[in-house]
Amino acid sequence: MIRVLFVCLGNICRSPMADAVFQDMVKKAGLSDKIEVDSAGTGSWHIGESAHRGTLGVLKRHNIPYQGRARQIARADFDEFDYILPMDSSNLADIQRLVKDSDAEIAPFLSYANAAGTVVGETDVPDPYYDQRFDYVYELVEKGCAALLAHIRQQYQI
Ligand code: 4NP
Repeated sequence: MIRVLFVCLGNICRSPMADAVFQDMVKKAGLSDKIEVDSAGTGSWHIGESAHRGTLGVLKRHNIPYQGRARQIARADFDEFDYILPMDSSNLADIQRLVKDSDAEIAPFLSYANAAGTVVGETDVPDPYYDQRFDYVYELVEKGCAALLAHIRQQYQI
């Protein structure tokens, strides 16, 4: 099993959106038996909560289900996941402070879309918690997930 973990600050806006969108793409590609998807936050404020209504709204408009509850990233995640993908550079810095040693590929979520040229001029997924730009975040998440799936398929020849 290839295990993918998306990470943001609260695990209620950006990483649950990526979790849901990527899970949907994996399912549609017929790869659900090969790729497992999850998300977590670096912070503890929202543990146990469902995703933000802005995230749930945009997912609903795109017919993508999501039932996950917020959780905080844990040390064990660095052993269990193959890809750990922070949504912005501050999430990456927080992760780097936590990690001891890990075989996981730890890379900015948008780095795959940046490399593919499908997202230009944006290396961080901006936090919609304060400015409510959930539709713009969805656009970035969709492109980021598509590039990530292409990368994994090539990496594992699946
Ligand atoms: P997220 O957004 O990291 O995309 O889930 C946030 C959610 C909550 C807070 C900040 C960002 N907060 O400060 O509670």
